[in-house]
Amino acid sequence: MLNIKNLSLSYGDKHIFEELNIEIKENEITAIVGASGIGKSSLFLCINQMIRYEKSYKLKGEILYKGIDLMKESEDNLTKIRKNIIYVSQQPDILPMSIYENLAFIARIHKIKNIDEKINAALEKVYLYDEIKDRLHTDATSLSGGQQQRLILARALLLEPEVLLLDEPTASLNEELSHKIGLMLKEHKSTIIIISHFKSQVKKLTNNVYSL
Ligand SMILES: Nc1ncnc2c1ncn2[C@@H]1O[C@H](COP(=O)(O)OP(=O)(O)OP(=O)(O)O)[C@@H](O)[C@H]1O
Ligand SMILES: [Mg+2]
Repeated sequence: MLNIKNLSLSYGDKHIFEELNIEIKENEITAIVGASGIGKSSLFLCINQMIRYEKSYKLKGEILYKGIDLMKESEDNLTKIRKNIIYVSQQPDILPMSIYENLAFIARIHKIKNIDEKINAALEKVYLYDEIKDRLHTDATSLSGGQQQRLILARALLLEPEVLLLDEPTASLNEELSHKIGLMLKEHKSTIIIISHFKSQVKKLTNNVYSL
């Protein structure tokens, strides 16, 4: 599904990683582990090519998505491709609107049908529905950190992308919820790349592990 070949990244004179080779198999979970500041989130920015918006980056190598080198694609094509490669960032990018609208607005952009049904299903998947079903039309920024993290995960699941890039998706959750969400991701039939600090947690999820 995705093949990263000899990828090297630097910001200015600072080398982040060199000659990285990663193979992402379709409908499997692949984990990226490594110390803080090693370049895990930057790797995600390379995959979806949002790195193009960072200052003074230098990137070499290939990022093949179904055989297409994303590094050579025009910005117009990338906008379309990014609808199939959804990035869930480390800091929940909650918009100053209601919980429902945080999900519905992007569902409309992606022309998702049966929005209400899909929103409820996505909220159930991240174990958020029961907690917030009575306040769907209240401000999403008043949710707790862990609730916000689950909301952006629900938003990504709702879009049913081919590839999900999850950057520390359970970092603000307790052990029980992290475990339950891990099980849900295992059952979710799509290609998932997950960043985690925790090797033990990753072991439960997948055998495809790359350490930066
Ligand atoms: N736009 C940028 N310009 C310069 N340096 C940057 C930029 N973005 C990130 N860095 C640096 O690159 C290194 C890798 O950052 P990155 O966010 O990819 O690490 P990470 O592995 O995701 O860390 P964490 O586990 O703490 O989230 C860090 O030293 C960071 O300070
Ligand atoms: Mg990071």
